[in-house]
Amino acid sequence: MKIAVLAGDGIGSEIIREAVRVLQALDLPGLELIPADVGGMAYKKHGHPLPAETLQIARAADGILFGAVGDPDCDNLERHLRPEQAILGLRKELGLFANLRPAKVFKGLEDASALRPEVAGAIDLLIVRELNGDVYFGEKGIRTLPDGRRQGWDMMSYAEDEVRRIAHVAFKAAMGRKKKLCSVDKANVLETFQLWRDVVSEVAADYPEVELTHMYVDNAAMQLVRNPGQFDVIVTGNMFGDILSDQASMCVGSIGMLASASLSEGKLGLYEPIHGSAPDIAGKGLANPMATVLSAAMLLRHSLGLEEQAARIEAAVARALADGIRGADLGGTLGTVAIGDAIVERL
Ligand code: IPM
Ligand code: MG
Repeated sequence: MKIAVLAGDGIGSEIIREAVRVLQALDLPGLELIPADVGGMAYKKHGHPLPAETLQIARAADGILFGAVGDPDCDNLERHLRPEQAILGLRKELGLFANLRPAKVFKGLEDASALRPEVAGAIDLLIVRELNGDVYFGEKGIRTLPDGRRQGWDMMSYAEDEVRRIAHVAFKAAMGRKKKLCSVDKANVLETFQLWRDVVSEVAADYPEVELTHMYVDNAAMQLVRNPGQFDVIVTGNMFGDILSDQASMCVGSIGMLASASLSEGKLGLYEPIHGSAPDIAGKGLANPMATVLSAAMLLRHSLGLEEQAARIEAAVARALADGIRGADLGGTLGTVAIGDAIVERL
């Protein structure tokens, strides 16, 4: 069981250290952790945010545990050298097209949400975000128009097979949950998302038990704060999924709580917290490692088939929260290592 460990920038190394401690506490026979450089720190060391060696280690692994990338020092580099390109490159190169972002309110955290406790308490949803297409990976550039004005442009598109394969992931996920799927698009304005809606509706024929609805993304953003309890599984494109998952994280209390899995057609997956590198608090031991710890649990479940151990980690996190263990993001005072200690103790 080879796990590539890519800590990256900012708070990445601090949160990854705690997730690794949790994995080691499980004493899994044959577990091998292989660290590799990624993001701005990799650029500074090797001249590229996703060095060939890192990609090779990631490709050869059974699962990838990822911290965060992003470094203000690198914001003025050419786009292909910026830290963010590392995660986009991994997603594309490894065919990680299906991003699962579960959002659920842990008991005791209802008050941490930006929403009223009774609204927040009902949240138990899964965002299935397409990760290999959309405006993220289209041609793009900044050009000069004949009249001399500069114009930025990014091409948005989805081919039907790209929509079909993510729709299947979402319908299957819904089958394992409450059998409700909401497809989020912007079919009223964008051709890309008219095709999206048509293809999702076609795939629905294979899943007669799943109740499919369609919702425009602006309405979905509104419904997520009005009545998030109505959602079970949400499926959407790369950009809308990026935005809605950050929004969902605040609905459950903190962006420091949301884990994610990015899956390929095979067993290989990349697991990361949905938050970024938080350069403002990096190195201070303040970051909440729970999203990363929960991502490690998803790795055990989806890439290694270790459901029981995954559930143990999740139970330890839930227990810690129930016992009042809180980082600053949740209004508490505990730092990164103390939260890691609390989880390991409860394992
Ligand atoms: C995310 C992040 C990334 C994205 C960035 C870091 C490229 O915001 O995983 O949600 O936009 O997908
Ligand atoms: Mg994002």
